Amino acid sequence: MSTVNYSDKIPNNVNLSEDRTLQRALEGWQPNFVNWWDDVGPDGSTGYDVYLRTAVSVDPQGWAQFGHVKMRDYRWGIFLNPGDASREIHFGDHKGEKAWQDVPGEHRANLRRIIVTQGDTEPASVEQQRHLGLTAPSMYDLRNLYQINVEEGRHLWAMVYLLHKHFGRDGREEAEALLQRTSGDVDNPRILGAFNEKTPDWLAFFMFTYFTDRDGKFQLSALAESAFDPLARTTKFMLTEEAHHMFVGESGVSRVLTRTAAVMNELKTDDAQKVRAAGAIDLGTIQRYLNFHYSVTIDLFGADQSSNAAIFYSSGLKGRYEEGKRTDDHVLKGQTYKVLEVKDGQLVEKDVPMLNALNEVLRDDFIKDSVAGVNRWNKVLEKAGIPTRLTVPHKAFNRQIGALAGIKMSPDGRVVGEAEWAAKKSEWLPTPDDFAFVASLMGRVVDPGKFAGWIAPPVMGINRQPVDFEYVRFG
Ligand SMILES: [Fe+2]
Ligand SMILES: [Fe+2]
Repeated sequence: MSTVNYSDKIPNNVNLSEDRTLQRALEGWQPNFVNWWDDVGPDGSTGYDVYLRTAVSVDPQGWAQFGHVKMRDYRWGIFLNPGDASREIHFGDHKGEKAWQDVPGEHRANLRRIIVTQGDTEPASVEQQRHLGLTAPSMYDLRNLYQINVEEGRHLWAMVYLLHKHFGRDGREEAEALLQRTSGDVDNPRILGAFNEKTPDWLAFFMFTYFTDRDGKFQLSALAESAFDPLARTTKFMLTEEAHHMFVGESGVSRVLTRTAAVMNELKTDDAQKVRAAGAIDLGTIQRYLNFHYSVTIDLFGADQSSNAAIFYSSGLKGRYEEGKRTDDHVLKGQTYKVLEVKDGQLVEKDVPMLNALNEVLRDDFIKDSVAGVNRWNKVLEKAGIPTRLTVPHKAFNRQIGALAGIKMSPDGRVVGEAEWAAKKSEWLPTPDDFAFVASLMGRVVDPGKFAGWIAPPVMGINRQPVDFEYVRFG
């Protein structure tokens, strides 16, 4: 069951060939997917052989097989973690009942919406990152970008499989629409805000994969608890790939910091202009990028109070992060949670029904996880003897969604007036000058083992290969 059938046109471990109608429908979608990849996937990459990891089974030993392949021939397919026939729903009003193998009619619209919203983010990030290959700081980094891109493509496949198998004609139409929306398109944009932002340079890419792929981790973790068993099983497998995406972000920023700290020590300076003149990225710019990506990403969790969040939980569609490890009643009726609101110009906490605050619960879990990695970045600075530390901004900073949208906050959590915001904004968020400077560093460095001057080499290569391995063959 867990071995992937590669003799099929569509690699899968779901016995696809036994369901001819579904197989034909997915084989009909496949060429549209490849057209989408050719149109808005990684720019100029068609002829390259890339050292990619491909899943051949969902077992720990089998999901990572490495070899050089052309990306458009990547074995995108359908992989579900093994099922457990006795699995029970473990939260919400249906707690203790058997998990669903098909979609109950009354939850059809909500489940479709959840799957489409998740599915929409996957091709969106490929579109956002499509030009980055042209300015890769090394062949190693180029390969990591492409690995993430093909896996986001596979995540789209995972959601499209669910839509085709369980949602009939509506599902097939949604699967088509997933290829029609485009990140940043004025007329037909992607569903969520952060997925319509540009990823203009590699510092933005590392921040995106650190913060925004981590949003993916938390959303997928919540869906991995779902009473709808096929959704739980497919998201569990997606999580193994998401971990690598966050690794690329975390190690990428670490390497930028390593290089910046080395330049600061060489020149014995913390002057941003001198650091820039030496071809490294100053810490102020890194902090502003962090502020931007963090605040845009925490908006993805949605409004702090949401009746939909309560419905999704109580009906068993979406659990909490690590639901199974929590020791409460997993029903949450009558419990409360603290959210923030602005009262008389001040931020105050207020208690609201926990079921309605589950977006905020997930956001707070995300924040804890994010801060842990920022502390690891600070270790790089500490080891280099640099006294500056990176911090995540206050969670009310630069918010566009929920009760905190529309108020002006400093990163350290003070409500500020329009005048102070206007005066300080350029210290808090990346400026056109920051973007222009970072863009000026982005030149393509792709000789094996060579690295752009603004980033340190990684400690190790991929799959125990040397750092100067030929990760991409340009042909
Ligand atoms: Fe993904
Ligand atoms: Fe990802």
